[in-house]
Amino acid sequence: MAENVRDFDRFHNEVDLDAHWMPYTANKAFRQSPKMVERGEGMHVFDAGGRSIIDAISGLWCCNLGHCHPRVVAAIQEQAATLDYSTAFQVGHPKAFRLAERLADIAPDDLSAVFFTNSGSESVDTALKLALAYFHAKGEPNRTRLVGRVRGYHGAGFGGTSVGGIGANRRTFGPLLPGVLHIADIYDHEHQAFSRGQPQWGAHLADDLERLFVTNHPESIAAVIVEPFGGSAGVLVPPVGYLERLREITARHGILLIFDEVITAFGRLGASFAAERFGVTPDIIATAKGITSGTVPMGAVIAREGIRETILDATDAGIELFHGYTYSGHPLASAAALACLDAYEEESLFERAAKMEGVLEAVVHGLKDLPYVRDIRNIGMAAAIELEGDANAPSRRALSVFETAFEEGVLVRTTGDIIALAPPPHCERERHHCDRRRRSEGNPGAHLG
Ligand SMILES: Cc1ncc(COP(=O)(O)O)c(C=O)c1O
Repeated sequence: MAENVRDFDRFHNEVDLDAHWMPYTANKAFRQSPKMVERGEGMHVFDAGGRSIIDAISGLWCCNLGHCHPRVVAAIQEQAATLDYSTAFQVGHPKAFRLAERLADIAPDDLSAVFFTNSGSESVDTALKLALAYFHAKGEPNRTRLVGRVRGYHGAGFGGTSVGGIGANRRTFGPLLPGVLHIADIYDHEHQAFSRGQPQWGAHLADDLERLFVTNHPESIAAVIVEPFGGSAGVLVPPVGYLERLREITARHGILLIFDEVITAFGRLGASFAAERFGVTPDIIATAKGITSGTVPMGAVIAREGIRETILDATDAGIELFHGYTYSGHPLASAAALACLDAYEEESLFERAAKMEGVLEAVVHGLKDLPYVRDIRNIGMAAAIELEGDANAPSRRALSVFETAFEEGVLVRTTGDIIALAPPPHCERERHHCDRRRRSEGNPGAHLG
């Protein structure tokens, strides 16, 4: 075993790197060049040596309040000392009910039935299962096909992997779920490159759903699941009119539309949900991440009331839906989520994110003329800079930006040769802190990095 594997002691804090098998990580490369952070505050994380690193990806698209928000920390601490766990089956605790009510209040239209999970992957699998259970209860048991989109990401469960459309995530896992179909990608470099916000070209790409009807009867399709904007594949922004058209086609054929809002909810787009931002209401919303600002694992699926009613009404007595998790609505997660919703509201986070969108857009599009820049995309508090790939070493250029940025004190995310940015929607507050600090230190520019 290499020495650096056994003794990662860059900061005199010895850690054995061997046992932990890291997710979605080049494990061997990590061991050669480990990156560790030990503390977080606001929009910064800190390594063991105390070096501050700007978290320009909100953890992993989740810390929408930044790190260690005092209100959320206090709520978790208090809850841990009051009720650490309560069974989620047959017995409830008030905070889960309060949280469900708050989510139903901010969700669009009649999406008011809230089912708790522990992650985005579980939310996606739950949403897909709800769609199947709904049609079963409704007397349409042949509606079993599920439709995803090319380059879509819906987590790591078998359901999410099956409807997901990123080749590398599917390739090694066998046949996955049967009966899954995919519609075309929403990205087209020729017609959309360097669009600011939503591209004007591409609403017609939603019509690709109708192509599936040539070989599959629309009445065999239960649900279409899409990310309102594609995050993991590198900020793929829906063209103007695309989501509206998808809504229209699915509604016309009685197909449920699921928005995977795991990264788009809770402020990322300057609104509670992408559904609100784009003015398109799906039948089911799957969320996670920002619901607790990444502090305690939690997800929630919010379905139209009619979906729940149909499923409940189909059973006379006993359990109506054989689905759920030991930690559904966990007390710590519920307390954290309630504190986050309070903070989002009191700090007008969504409105502030909406104001910051133009700032982020101007900054990223200002990089257009740098070497190797192939495209720049942005929407809400999310942006991507796509580089020309090196034909002999795909991903190398973006990875070298990742490495250099980390050394320079900025954490970004890469996917292939795309660099993704998703600063916390609350970064305006951070800017004020920095401005204050600079003024008090009488040293303008010291913190500009
Ligand atoms: C759109 C989308 N869906 C699902 C997931 C999976 O979430 P988790 O990693 O919490 O399971 C992610 C994660 O990034 C995501 O971006």
